[in-house]
Amino acid sequence: MKKFGYFDDARKEYVIQSPQTPYPWINYLGTQAFFSLISNTAGGYSFYKDARLRRITRYRYNNVPIDMGGRYFYIKEGETVWNPGWSPCKTKLDFYECRHGMGYTVITGKKNDLKAEVTFFVPQNYDGEVQQVVLTNEGSAAKTFKLFSFAEWCLWDAQDDCTNFQRNFSTGRVEVEGSTIYHKTEYRDRRDHFAFYTVNDTVDGYDTDRDSFIGLYNGFGDPQAVTDGKATDSFADGWSPIASHYKEITLQPGESKTLVFILGYVEMKVDEKFEADGVTINKVKAHAMIEQYNTPEKVAAGLAELRAAWDKLLGILNVNTPDDKVDRMVNIWNQYQCMVTFNLSRSASYFESGIGRGMGFRDSNQDILGFVHQIPDRARERLIDLASTQLEDGGCYHQYQPLTKKGNSDIGGDFSDDPLWMILSVSAYIKETGDWSILDAMVPYDNDESKAKPMLDHLTVSFYHIVNNLGPHGLPLAMRADWNDCINLSCFSDTPGESFQTYTNPKFKAEGGYSKIAESVMVAALFTYVGPNYVGILKHLGKDAEAAAAQAEIDKMKANVMESAFDGEWFLRAYDSNGEKMGSKECEEGKIFIEPQGFAVMSEIGKEQGADIKTLDSIDKYLNTKYGLVLNNPAFSRYYIQYGEISTYPGGYKENAGIFTHNNAWIICAEAYAGRGDKAFEYYSKIAPAFNEEISDLHKTEPYVYGQMIAGKDASRFGEGKNSWLTGTAAWNMVAISQYILGVQPDFDGLRVDPSIPHAWDGFTATRQFRGATYRITVKNPDHVCKGVKSMTVDGKAVDGCIIPDLGSGEHQVEVVLG
Ligand code: BGC
Ligand code: NOJ
Repeated sequence: MKKFGYFDDARKEYVIQSPQTPYPWINYLGTQAFFSLISNTAGGYSFYKDARLRRITRYRYNNVPIDMGGRYFYIKEGETVWNPGWSPCKTKLDFYECRHGMGYTVITGKKNDLKAEVTFFVPQNYDGEVQQVVLTNEGSAAKTFKLFSFAEWCLWDAQDDCTNFQRNFSTGRVEVEGSTIYHKTEYRDRRDHFAFYTVNDTVDGYDTDRDSFIGLYNGFGDPQAVTDGKATDSFADGWSPIASHYKEITLQPGESKTLVFILGYVEMKVDEKFEADGVTINKVKAHAMIEQYNTPEKVAAGLAELRAAWDKLLGILNVNTPDDKVDRMVNIWNQYQCMVTFNLSRSASYFESGIGRGMGFRDSNQDILGFVHQIPDRARERLIDLASTQLEDGGCYHQYQPLTKKGNSDIGGDFSDDPLWMILSVSAYIKETGDWSILDAMVPYDNDESKAKPMLDHLTVSFYHIVNNLGPHGLPLAMRADWNDCINLSCFSDTPGESFQTYTNPKFKAEGGYSKIAESVMVAALFTYVGPNYVGILKHLGKDAEAAAAQAEIDKMKANVMESAFDGEWFLRAYDSNGEKMGSKECEEGKIFIEPQGFAVMSEIGKEQGADIKTLDSIDKYLNTKYGLVLNNPAFSRYYIQYGEISTYPGGYKENAGIFTHNNAWIICAEAYAGRGDKAFEYYSKIAPAFNEEISDLHKTEPYVYGQMIAGKDASRFGEGKNSWLTGTAAWNMVAISQYILGVQPDFDGLRVDPSIPHAWDGFTATRQFRGATYRITVKNPDHVCKGVKSMTVDGKAVDGCIIPDLGSGEHQVEVVLG
């Protein structure tokens, strides 16, 4: 078992010491509008707001070799050509290191006493990636060498860029001015944006045509111009435009040279696009952008500003527990990942091509749960964008494009769980901020302003969308899918290529597109878990009759679940469209599923009959493995046409008995809720990436962020991670560890502190900024229990219960004693 680097917690960095990680280990630059993905060998790409519609540089997914396309610096000294990040030349380096930090990455390479340290970051409020290259002669003789930069432009629409070659090979256009190369494809006609790549020094040449620079039959690892030791000054005219600077540099022993490159994006007003000649790009805005970071001093200030912004964000919640790995996840990496998932939903990662999916409705609502404390105003804006894509009957577009903010009609709606997440995320926002005014905000339906209603109305239609769509057992209809996109009970697909999420079998056409028999127990349990938030909101607003009516629906749902969906030792998963049980001990395969269980336990469904403990014990017995909880057991070994996509995956992968880390968190929460802190922590530590660092060669994906899935016990690659970064796992595990295990949980009335920790812990401390005040919380566990607040004091005064009242400002000492 092997690791490939180490955590540098003081600098909030993961330090990678070998370029050949088991998979490219990436970072994200930018948190606002300009984004870059960057791997530990400088692969990756940039885009503005939307990875599909506004792609700035090109990347080659699923390439051989892996991870091709990036921002590359080539150094040629004598006959040796190398890159600071090792790839794409793959020349053996004398030293290599990649430090992924909060919004920046530093890659350092050394070869023959020449050191190149490249810092990449997207400054705050800036639409560009800054790349600072520091070259140092560490030898004892003078060195003369050549430096080439490289970026390949994408022709904006990433989907079109990799398919429509008959057009695109003729449209590419650039302009060159001094040391700046401008990419202006389609700017002449319908686009009002361009990109540029610049360096803050004179150059000795450039290339803007890819085939001239690389050579038609060469690769990124042996560009012809670099081999020849000279740029060709090529000028792109169609084909594939690139930007490459060329410079000859001499350094005395001990001497350093710093160059600052900027890859920028500019939008122009239509009537200001051109200079007087009506052809040349108006570069006023670009010049101003270049001016902002054209010296090492300005770069240092920009980096300092970025670091300060992250220190501030990460200061909102900070813990000190007996376990360094917990601190590292909670204080640094889990929060960082929550920012990334909040920004990008499931759109652009090394497993999501940026052209497949926009912002998911359920995904983005859940992402808010882990992010809302960081920048509540941005969460509020997102909630409004999401709710604006909702339909008047409470149904929702399943996705929208971030650039247009319009619901995506290709995928449409009818995912049975979608509306419920909106209630949960709006509640989380109110609990965090105390800002009840969001309920009065006028929010359109279907992006139509004339159909705007207060946000509260959106919650009401969400709640009643479930109540109004029940099946024969009084359980919510399963529709096309629920949270599990791969349980498609109305699909019955027998033709390759049909999308399990959008195809519905014609036999359900008459019923409106999906079976009126198939029911989801998962949505039932989610309803009873989420519903009380809606009731709480109504009560706060003094709408007691409406609150009572909603509560009655929740109670009825609980009764229906106990009546028809408790299988004796756990909850069923669904009723299929034939009215047969799914996820029952009576089933041949897929006898037990993870998804409904945690929500049912936390809703206390059947608690009086001991359903909660029986269920949790069954999960331990049937789903627990050494690498986490599998989604279902036994795995499906053949295709069940009545279940859909789930049974198309080989056993142990993805939704078919993979360890889906997202819903592991629901069980962690439920174990903590039930007071079983030891179990909660066991499950938490099985999947938290920092705990898997030692087995990086098996785990494969980054040890600092969660992936969507770890292969389950039925897979030959048991323990192997996939689909890292963009997953609801980030938000839900943030919730699980901070709000359920450590128990620091915002509520409507204040901040609750009700931990459920391993009994061995003596306690922990936490700092939490909350609604304008800072709480310094000390939790003591003298009796070594898992859960139970014996006493709580705030600024020395005893408080009844375990909710810190909302003190509004100042710093307060909170002491909690368990026992
Ligand atoms: C995947 C799911 C995903 C769905 C929609 C399926 O193939 O297994 O995890 O949510 O596609 O993109
Ligand atoms: C990934 C999707 O993004 C998410 O929406 C879904 O809940 C899970 N897969 C499970 O299918």
